[in-house]
Amino acid sequence: MLYQLPLADRYQQLSDDELRAGIRRLKEQFGKRLVILGHHYQQQDVIEFADLRGDSLKLSQLAAEQKDAEFIVFCGVHFMAESADILTDNRRRVILPDLSAGCSMADMADIDDVEDAWQFLEGAEDGTPITPITYVNSSAAVKAFVGRHDGACCTSSNAKLVVEWALHGGTPNGDGGHKILFAPDQHLGRNTAYALGFPLGSMIIYDPAQRNGGLTAEQVRAARFILWKGHCSVHGLFTKAQIDAVRKLDEPYNVIVHPECAWEVCQAADLVGSTEYIIQAVNKAPAGSYWAIGTEHNLVKRVALENPDKHVRSLAGIHCLCTTMYRIDLRHLYWCLERLAAGEIANQVSVDTETRHWSKVALDRMLALRPTQPISAK
Ligand code: 13P
Ligand code: SF4
Repeated sequence: MLYQLPLADRYQQLSDDELRAGIRRLKEQFGKRLVILGHHYQQQDVIEFADLRGDSLKLSQLAAEQKDAEFIVFCGVHFMAESADILTDNRRRVILPDLSAGCSMADMADIDDVEDAWQFLEGAEDGTPITPITYVNSSAAVKAFVGRHDGACCTSSNAKLVVEWALHGGTPNGDGGHKILFAPDQHLGRNTAYALGFPLGSMIIYDPAQRNGGLTAEQVRAARFILWKGHCSVHGLFTKAQIDAVRKLDEPYNVIVHPECAWEVCQAADLVGSTEYIIQAVNKAPAGSYWAIGTEHNLVKRVALENPDKHVRSLAGIHCLCTTMYRIDLRHLYWCLERLAAGEIANQVSVDTETRHWSKVALDRMLALRPTQPISAK
């Protein structure tokens, strides 16, 4: 995990208005040399400065398209900045305003544990090929591992397409008989496999904290999906009880949740989909409709703000905030732009050549499997 050193006192003393004016001035000064990308979970103060915004898939695609900007300031979390670095050429510099903006889910799949798991799974298998898939919420090292082993990355927007691809071993003529190792989000893996018609009994959990993942060779041979024991701490806060409570209200709420939520939550919801899917579903809904959304707090707030003619609330009564996304604030954004103007590239995120090569293989496979519009994950 990376740590951000505290900013100098001077930055603590600036008001929000001063920070906004400073960011505006520096953005103008850099012009086309600078692009700011913002994930939908960013706080409103920051997203207002994003030239382009999107979910994980859209931002990967937007990063790959950057040919003019010399500097890409990524307002998101570390794995997203790494992906942007991997997908752009060596002339673009990717900057993460706060290095402590990590992802607890990505941290749940350590590369050494993934290597150990692979060794065990391959040894336990009796000839059925295993294709590894990693959710894009993972380190570049894990992505490179997956690329090297004929697998692919996925996001919540295209997980179904990637799993179908992987079941066929990445070839259109494959027999569809491959097994899948899905890391690090067990929920996205389970929800996707189930949506594709696989029963829960065909899935097992690999727990990296236990010897051989807590599995026997027989269990591996009998399974179709090996799901890594990882999860998102934010989406893990949504429960089926919250949906039951919303159903008891007088208003006819539509319940829509992200597929990082647990299986029983997704099953009880009306709609399940990625960030982009959620945004579009509410944007397209009739005025006056009611929405209870099971995803990150800042996104829910923005959806409510941008749909004043609809009734939008969080599914949970508490604020389900991604605290690492929240680390990116006006202060850190201003600080890194000011450093840049002074000729210092602070907080550059860069991936070494070997890791870059293989992780790009996995990311390119993901980008080749893009749906034309957000697809339901249920
Ligand atoms: P998406 O942006 O793919 O919806 O993923 C949500 C998320 O948790 C990002 O970390
Ligand atoms: Fe990671 Fe969850 Fe935050 Fe996304 S919302 S960055 S998966 S902790």
